[in-house]
Amino acid sequence: MAGSSTLPILTADEVVSHLRALRARQPVTYRAFYSSQLRGIVTDPALMVIPFDDHLVHRGHGIFDTAALVGGKIYDLEAHLDRFLLSAERSKLRLPGSRGEIRDIIIKTTAVSGRRDGSIRYWLSSGPGSLELGPAAGAEPGFFVMVFDGLSYPERWYTEGLKVMTTTYPIKAPLYAITKATNYLPNVLMQMEAKEAGFDNGVFIDADGYVGESSNMNVAFVTGGRVFVHPTFDNVLAGCTSLRLLELARALVDQGLLTGIEVRDIPVAEGRAAREMLLLGSSVKVAPVVQWDSQVIGDGRPGPVAKALLRLLEEDMRSGDRLIPVPYQD
Ligand SMILES: Cc1ncc(COP(=O)(O)O)c(C=O)c1O
Repeated sequence: MAGSSTLPILTADEVVSHLRALRARQPVTYRAFYSSQLRGIVTDPALMVIPFDDHLVHRGHGIFDTAALVGGKIYDLEAHLDRFLLSAERSKLRLPGSRGEIRDIIIKTTAVSGRRDGSIRYWLSSGPGSLELGPAAGAEPGFFVMVFDGLSYPERWYTEGLKVMTTTYPIKAPLYAITKATNYLPNVLMQMEAKEAGFDNGVFIDADGYVGESSNMNVAFVTGGRVFVHPTFDNVLAGCTSLRLLELARALVDQGLLTGIEVRDIPVAEGRAAREMLLLGSSVKVAPVVQWDSQVIGDGRPGPVAKALLRLLEEDMRSGDRLIPVPYQD
């Protein structure tokens, strides 16, 4: 922080140079950023900024979604756009253009990034112009796209499995859980609490004692009778990965690895007694949980369904029919 005696009044050039110094102190791997407010794309992370009075920043009036970039193709973008549009409607956010225009900006920003693998996250805000609650008069909705290297998790999660704890934080009310808004305070606190207690992540339980979801992932199980069970999507985010895996898992029923697939309420006691417990999401893909609080899950080792589902998902991400090729220039 600047000293208390004099605070400089900065020129625009000084602001840019301080933003660059900030990035030099703390390097990031953001490859390209589109901003409707800048009316274009920047590749210098120092310039990936948003006005402080944008309501996304000071009121959390914004939504987002993230799609994976795999081998130069965007995976399952339509499902992520469906959810983005639903979240916008539930949040009373106006779109800056049509679905086709939004898709086009996402694809073009990805092309400029040059990245073949990573993540594409995009946000919609109610825009700048006041410090009120509701959108400012004349505010244009803001649309932002960031292409970055993606979140990564320890290899151990996949080879040995991970440990989760029941969070002490209350689950979001259903409307806020099914809307992918930028208000992730409960999710952040849950993850921090779990790490502080020596676990890898947390699990929300709903008011009726059913299994909810994890910080940025869904939770699913394989029962003793080898049924793949997933919570309903009434109280948790409808994960695009979960929805896709519920389809892909049918192949495991055909192979005899599973006996059925069910989407229903899952009491905590049933989850703890499961043969396998899984975390599912665009960034984690499929990760086996081997301990929940003090309860060892199954035989305490990653199970066959977790491995098989991960293989099916990775295959779908590389060569399925839900891929959009990115028109790179080189
Ligand atoms: C709270 C929450 N639940 C579940 C998920 C999994 O969703 P997806 O599979 O679309 O990544 C996410 C990630 O977006 C999330 O933030």
